[in-house]
Amino acid sequence: MTVSEVQERNSLAGGSGAVGEALIGNPCQVTESATMVIFGIAGDLARKKLVPAIYDLAHGGQLPLDFDLVGFVRSSTDVETLLRQAVIAYARAPFDSEVWEALAKRIHLVQGSFDDTAAFAALATRLTELDVRHGKPGNYVFYLSIPPSAFATVCDQLAITGLNRGDSGWRRVVVEKPFGHDLASSQTLGAALERVFPSSSIYRIDHYLGKETVQNILALRFANGMFEPLWNNRHIDHVQITMSESVGVTGRAGYYDGVGAARDVIQNHLLQLLALIAMEEPVRLDADSIAAEKIKILSATELLGPLSETSARGQYGAGVENDVPVPGLADESGFTADSATETFAALTVGVATRRWAGVPFFIRTGKRLTRRTTEIAVTFTPPVHGSPAARVAAVSNVLVFRVQPDDGIELHIGAKRPGDGMHIQPVSLGMDFRSVFDEAPEAYERLIRDVLRADATLFPRREEVELSWQIIDPLLEHWGTFGRPDTYPSGTAGPASAERILSRTGRVWRPL
Ligand code: BG6
Repeated sequence: MTVSEVQERNSLAGGSGAVGEALIGNPCQVTESATMVIFGIAGDLARKKLVPAIYDLAHGGQLPLDFDLVGFVRSSTDVETLLRQAVIAYARAPFDSEVWEALAKRIHLVQGSFDDTAAFAALATRLTELDVRHGKPGNYVFYLSIPPSAFATVCDQLAITGLNRGDSGWRRVVVEKPFGHDLASSQTLGAALERVFPSSSIYRIDHYLGKETVQNILALRFANGMFEPLWNNRHIDHVQITMSESVGVTGRAGYYDGVGAARDVIQNHLLQLLALIAMEEPVRLDADSIAAEKIKILSATELLGPLSETSARGQYGAGVENDVPVPGLADESGFTADSATETFAALTVGVATRRWAGVPFFIRTGKRLTRRTTEIAVTFTPPVHGSPAARVAAVSNVLVFRVQPDDGIELHIGAKRPGDGMHIQPVSLGMDFRSVFDEAPEAYERLIRDVLRADATLFPRREEVELSWQIIDPLLEHWGTFGRPDTYPSGTAGPASAERILSRTGRVWRPL
């Protein structure tokens, strides 16, 4: 809907045309007023994802009628210009100066550092002023788009100034991964947050859960009758979960060095995908019921060994990124020549339940690989023919959830080639989300809206996070003890050691 259409509709409805009123009666609009405080508003994530997502929500008329955005910044110089440019560059909706101006009027900056109690007092005063000015009850979201090492300091400051509680209105806090470095540090972090906010007010972002195709895993499994009867170890041979990226970590050494691929995306995104693929049908589609099922699966998930044969790690060397020659990680700024940070990780896990006993789940991820793709491939066992006379070449059917970039679903089957004989050829039946449905919202649009309306369904709980660390910690310890990552050329499918994980079981990775 264009702005003039929105204005026409609003004037018919008696609205004033303010940004929050862009679509009066829009069922997706959040109804309760709110103020969101972003710590780290000038940082990479806020510029590339959060502020553009907020703009997109404004553009679609989904923000609350009364919405203020407060940036807590070290220096306010040029922040507004920076945010405007970020919206132009990264928002999904086209840049519309009227929508931006209306939003920008409600963006406020408070200057200070995280250890400056006076700055937090100024923040409290500012929030009260906004409440009084707009007649709001004091509903605050504190978005910590900052390194986890600063979480505890900011939470303590919020507690000192009393911003974590209030006589009226609600308080919510949003945190971004990494939620720790291992189980012990994650527990410490979880406890620091829960000292200041009740667990029901803490929203941990795993942006993969905000992706429409990821949510579709549950729809496909439980809205259709044909998959569930086959969804077990009698019919499924194995599952492959792949997240490959063509880009490297150039410019991200500060975050990535010493973290690596397993902590960066397997501990969170990929184990969440596994939980959705493997979980039982929840009693209800609400936050508690879905979390309960995911927790059961994560509690039953364990690494399959021996780790030297069932896992692999690699670091990209020189090669190409999207056809352009690039140096290896050790030659990139911020990394040392002896950095042991892995940019590729692969592992094997099993889920010790009656449904999944004996089914290996192979998980791999890497940077600077052949191409960008995230998918889950469920491979079914080939048919067993009763009579040799009836035997045709058997195929393994594969159901592929393509999470990105071409989100959709594919089913690989075998079909007879026309002509004499019974020659079986693999063919694929496919569905592209984009050709069937309208464009989907970005993950952060969905997740920010869900925080504003207190829907925690798509946010992992503390227990899920800790169970996921418990799964991968032994592998991280193993890697810490033995050797270094193998090197693979940038622009390839990863180290040869990854191929062996599957070949030793008589299987192969799906080609990248
Ligand atoms: C982030 C990781 O969580 O996910 C990044 O920290 C990674 O390293 C990114 O590049 C990938 O997200 P997406 O949505 O592009 O698959």
